[in-house]
Amino acid sequence: MARLPTTIWQRQNDFFKMKMGAPLKIAIAGLGTVGGGVVKALAARQTMLAAQAGRALQISAVSARDPNKQRDFAVGKFVADPVALASSDADVVVELIGGEEGVARQLVETSLQNGKHVVTANKALLAKHGKRLAEMAEAKCLQLKFEAAVAGGIPIVTTLREALIAHGVDAVKGILNGTCNYILTEMEVTGRGFADVLKEAQAKGYAEADPTLDIGGGDTAHKLAILASLAFGTAPDLANMKVEGIEHITATDIAFASEFGFRIKLLGVARQTYNKDGTSSGIDQRVHPAMVRARTPLANVDGAANGVVVDAAAAGHFFFSGRGAGEAPTASAVVSDIVEIARGSFGPVFGRPAASLKPLMPANPGATQSAYYLRFEVLDVPGVLAEIAGHLSKAGVSIESMIQRGRAPSESVFIVMITHDASQQAVEGALKAIAASDKVKARPCMIPMEAA
Ligand SMILES: NC(=O)c1ccc[n+]([C@@H]2O[C@H](COP(=O)([O-])OP(=O)(O)OC[C@H]3O[C@@H](n4cnc5c(N)ncnc54)[C@H](OP(=O)(O)O)[C@@H]3O)[C@@H](O)[C@H]2O)c1
Repeated sequence: MARLPTTIWQRQNDFFKMKMGAPLKIAIAGLGTVGGGVVKALAARQTMLAAQAGRALQISAVSARDPNKQRDFAVGKFVADPVALASSDADVVVELIGGEEGVARQLVETSLQNGKHVVTANKALLAKHGKRLAEMAEAKCLQLKFEAAVAGGIPIVTTLREALIAHGVDAVKGILNGTCNYILTEMEVTGRGFADVLKEAQAKGYAEADPTLDIGGGDTAHKLAILASLAFGTAPDLANMKVEGIEHITATDIAFASEFGFRIKLLGVARQTYNKDGTSSGIDQRVHPAMVRARTPLANVDGAANGVVVDAAAAGHFFFSGRGAGEAPTASAVVSDIVEIARGSFGPVFGRPAASLKPLMPANPGATQSAYYLRFEVLDVPGVLAEIAGHLSKAGVSIESMIQRGRAPSESVFIVMITHDASQQAVEGALKAIAASDKVKARPCMIPMEAA
């Protein structure tokens, strides 16, 4: 039988086979929710993990900001400067500090320069610098692993990078931020407004003191950029992504959505789009609140949970759900990456060589069609409905169903519509004209429908 040429990954495997048996030395930077969870998980399952990994997993040093902080686990050797871990005797550096620049970036880059494998949960860093870091890792035959960076305990990174490579992926979409999903779920269950529920979520620890990155969609955007890269072989790209958060969603919209048989979810959606001749016309990637049909699995991901749907062409339609954040699920993902490194399983960081990751070609926004939920708050006067319908018709947007509801004792009414498929540009054009009418009392609301 002909011998296959040796790839850089096989060479790395051979190197690791020689070292099998020696403990894998792990340096951990960041001892907060995730870092603390990793230290505890490695201690609690020491024997089992050593058997699964084929070698002992040994924490050689740790670092965090405050050396004197009380922690509910044994800290071991503490190094004041986290970047110094990159020059320690560790085989693997685990970065669990966070942030797209600063200490986290410096630590990851220096570790790779110094020949250390890296595990991180840092989606902000990967979304911004993923391609360059992957090139650095691959140039030295090192691993850069990040299962915890997207959807916490759901193994979606490994699934896209390894399990679904045979047929390619048409779309990946999901509920990727537990804070937003918790807020939307609470608003639906209690009928309370956004600001009220956000305040409660902060008090319960489900939302940060500064919730901007979560509720504004930025955190979902970081995760989606990573998923799109894994799914489509493009460099992570935040610039070509429309991002809208949940700040403008009202309890009224959630109640109307329910009447129409939908639930409102903050989704990250990345989809391959095609020309009429079947060739690729680019990648449509966006983050926004979406109407999801109530009976679908994605619509029923509640509270702080995450859910991901993958359309993997001939391989089929897959749905994953689970805990997207928190100590145990995230630590589980980090430890699984460490074990993979200990076993010596190797492959390119984003599933194909980093140098071959293409720049993302954005889809033409006019080309993507969807049905829309539209809500207008208007004066209760004759002719207003005809005026709205007229503007929509002129833009080529047709209406599938409609509800009109008074707001007694106010003189305004809500007109709520579901449209047939239309381009975003056409709907936005019609809404601009409608908003200019003196019969319209508030900015119209527009939420796309997303088949899940
Ligand atoms: N929390 C989750 O559920 C979750 C889920 C997925 C991904 N992630 C990602 O995991 C990473 C860590 O998140 P986390 O929730 O564990 O954060 P965290 O609880 O705030 O912990 C951050 C840790 O980093 C340390 N740190 C902060 N700034 C530092 C600095 N300048 N120098 C040295 N150490 C510093 C802190 O030290 P002290 O302890 O001394 O303050 C703390 O131990 C982030 O990239 C995050 O996006 C988190």
